[in-house]
Amino acid sequence: MQGVDCPPALAAALEDSFGPHLKFVCERTARALAACGYSGLLVHSGSLVPVFEDDRSYAFEAHAPFKIWAPLGDVPDSFVWFEPGRQPRLLVHRPADYWHKPADPPHGYWVRHFDVRLVSDLAATRAALPPVLAQAAYIGDAFVELPTWGVKAVNPPALMRRLDYDRAAKTPYELACLREANRLGARGHLAAREAFDAGASEFEIELAFLKGCGLREQELPYNPIVALNAWGAVLHYQMLEKTTPAARHSLLIDAGAEFAGYASDITRTYSHEDVAFRSLIERVDRLQQALCAGLRSGVDWREVHLRAHALTGEVLRDADLIRCGADEAVATGVTRVFLPHGIGHLLGLEVHDVGGFMASAEGGELPRPENHPYLRLTRTLEEGFVVTMEPGIYFIPQLLDAARAQPLGSRINWPCVEGFMKFGGIRIEDDLAVTANASENLTRDAFRALTPPESIV
Ligand code: GLY
Ligand code: MN
Ligand code: MN
Repeated sequence: MQGVDCPPALAAALEDSFGPHLKFVCERTARALAACGYSGLLVHSGSLVPVFEDDRSYAFEAHAPFKIWAPLGDVPDSFVWFEPGRQPRLLVHRPADYWHKPADPPHGYWVRHFDVRLVSDLAATRAALPPVLAQAAYIGDAFVELPTWGVKAVNPPALMRRLDYDRAAKTPYELACLREANRLGARGHLAAREAFDAGASEFEIELAFLKGCGLREQELPYNPIVALNAWGAVLHYQMLEKTTPAARHSLLIDAGAEFAGYASDITRTYSHEDVAFRSLIERVDRLQQALCAGLRSGVDWREVHLRAHALTGEVLRDADLIRCGADEAVATGVTRVFLPHGIGHLLGLEVHDVGGFMASAEGGELPRPENHPYLRLTRTLEEGFVVTMEPGIYFIPQLLDAARAQPLGSRINWPCVEGFMKFGGIRIEDDLAVTANASENLTRDAFRALTPPESIV
């Protein structure tokens, strides 16, 4: 992410939109600092985490509160220093290190907006900050030397809450980054689908995805879920089997890309040749599109989740998977057997972005609907929010076995369910930016723009 390579038209859009983005982040940070009684903010990019008893580290991930300022994902122990009314200062850690290549000095569309200083170690970093930090808040890792720096508070919850709350609504710059993350992710998905059609293993499908995106695994926002056949029932399946299964039935691939620190989160499900499973996928796809069509500013996300269950009941009924009406399937918990996760979540600098339950910037939580413990978002949508929409229907042995032992089991058409077990499940997931009266589907737009598919070499 250091250089942020991108097509010329996007480069121009980033060039124009980063300045206003940073100005907006400065203004809202200044308001949050004033409300919480601080005069400055020091934000840490994070430190490398060493592997136990070795001299290697785990792959570095920059902290999101740092990335909202600067698209630098690969510079541990760097900092942003912000005092309201002044240009933000960026302290980039460039150690003298002949074992590793030090980060390049920052370059690109965003750099001129900062007072950039290259620092070789923590002592130099401290020297590049104001001598007294007694009224400053600090967000980041509590490294050993930090107590000697004299900040007023480390990760103060009230300040962090205000900043996290505001992250839900994206600036035009952030939306441009999220569109690009979707374009890269869609390229990866097209390559992955080609690999599946050619009979590839899960591992080979992931390699095709990475190549299609042009990203290394550690540059992705999350580990891809690449599930052939019945493994589609494992919601966060992680095995990436290297051998090809004897029979090929289906692929569920949940994989996203990252651009300038912003994530996409995309799922597609394919049937190899079974017509009934393909038709069930098409039903879930239509359900997903119906839910997407209802998005706009002012919609309570809990209502979206409950509507998803009502529509899932109808799909189960139409597909002959249940022996009761849709309303009864919802009321008795049957739909939760087939759809046991939330309908979506906030997306941005993190794949499951912060602030999903906050009633306001100041305090308070918005509860989930009763019996829906996995919903990650309970807020009312506002213009600029970016969310995922990810309905699904799964055949999960653990949940089906439990259902069979309960009264609700009599409402399930078991022979029909058993016929679908070998496919695992279906999830269709897009990323959407909420507008005043509708939404922009970043994922479908990205797939459409790649049709006919670009040659991905
Ligand atoms: N990729 C995880 C999720 O869809 O939330
Ligand atoms: Mn996903
Ligand atoms: Mn998701």
